[in-house]
Amino acid sequence: MSDVLLSVQGLKTHFGAREGVIRAVDGVDFDIGRGRTLCIVGESGSGKSITARSILQIVSRPGRIVDGKILLHCDSRPEVDLAALDPAGRNIRDIRGRDIAMIFQEPMNSLSPIHTIGDQLLEKIRLHHKLSRKAAEDRAVAALERVGIPDPKARLATYPFELSGGMRQRVMIAMALACRPALLIADEPTTALDVSTQANILDLIRDLQAETGMSVMFITHDLGVVAEIADDVAVMYLGRVVERGSTEQIFYDPQHPYTQALLASIPKLGARRQAGERLYAIKGMVPHPLNRPEGCPFHTRCPEAVSGLCDRRVPAQVSFGDNHVADCHMRDPEVLRAREAV
Ligand SMILES: Nc1ncnc2c1ncn2[C@@H]1O[C@H](COP(=O)(O)OP(=O)(O)OP(=O)(O)O)[C@@H](O)[C@H]1O
Ligand code: SF4
Ligand SMILES: [Mg+2]
Repeated sequence: MSDVLLSVQGLKTHFGAREGVIRAVDGVDFDIGRGRTLCIVGESGSGKSITARSILQIVSRPGRIVDGKILLHCDSRPEVDLAALDPAGRNIRDIRGRDIAMIFQEPMNSLSPIHTIGDQLLEKIRLHHKLSRKAAEDRAVAALERVGIPDPKARLATYPFELSGGMRQRVMIAMALACRPALLIADEPTTALDVSTQANILDLIRDLQAETGMSVMFITHDLGVVAEIADDVAVMYLGRVVERGSTEQIFYDPQHPYTQALLASIPKLGARRQAGERLYAIKGMVPHPLNRPEGCPFHTRCPEAVSGLCDRRVPAQVSFGDNHVADCHMRDPEVLRAREAV
């Protein structure tokens, strides 16, 4: 049995717009190991959510997967390429919720406002498992109890709007985990919550993961959260993974100038800031994918960019050992040798 649960290879998801093709995800590669947590980081617009949605084939129109593979190696079924499945077909519907579950930043988007929590949980459980109503109800109560909802039996009759944001988030996690998925995808699930609720939810996900051995793909732009929960990290920029590696490699030996800039922009714990001292900020803004720069996509903002090279040639992937790779000309020994030779 492979150690890899999900392998994303050369994934491209594009939107055909009147102005041109928006290449939201444009050649993304990463693996998620069994029982491991992969964090995906990157500024707004880098393609994190569209990557996650591509895995479940829930990209909204006119977006569609135009290339690449998403191989799922689940214990319960033969290897399947999710990218090749019909988004409206039975196979992917079967996988959604049962093998792979997703939670979102705003629970109201995935909870129905007009149905009770109990009805929604039961429907979800009975969709994937042939259980009597009583057995499904017991399972729903157990799921709510497990995520720390007080008096879970009585809560079955409540509507989502009757709950606080933190409680709604817990209900969404209970729904996602009721079928014991092999992979939980969490897209900024704690961003809208206050700091202590956020910490509780992260603890909860971690405990559930330890119990069930599921893998987690966690999207966030909070590097503090990454340091706390990730085993592996993929850094995205303009629809591509520009660096990936273990959490130690990314935090202690970052190679890509973009990763280095992201890390330099985190406020340091305990470091007292001098009056007037500003936090490091990456210059400029992420370009819109319609105006994707030629060559290295980061060259318009990169402090190390070399004119005539970075603005012309797409960098190759350079390996720094043990699953640690980054796409940068200035870290590529071949490019550096060639530059020295002239
Ligand atoms: N429905 C859509 N139609 C056209 N373009 C879209 C659509 N949804 C997303 N995009 C484009 O895809 C790109 C990637 O979007 P995505 O939502 O994946 O970014 P993200 O990394 O999740 O950002 P954020 O941190 O803000 O959530 C964006 O630049 C956006 O313009
Ligand atoms: S390839 Fe050039 S522009 Fe891109 S990250 Fe490396 S140095 Fe910067
Ligand atoms: Mg997003």
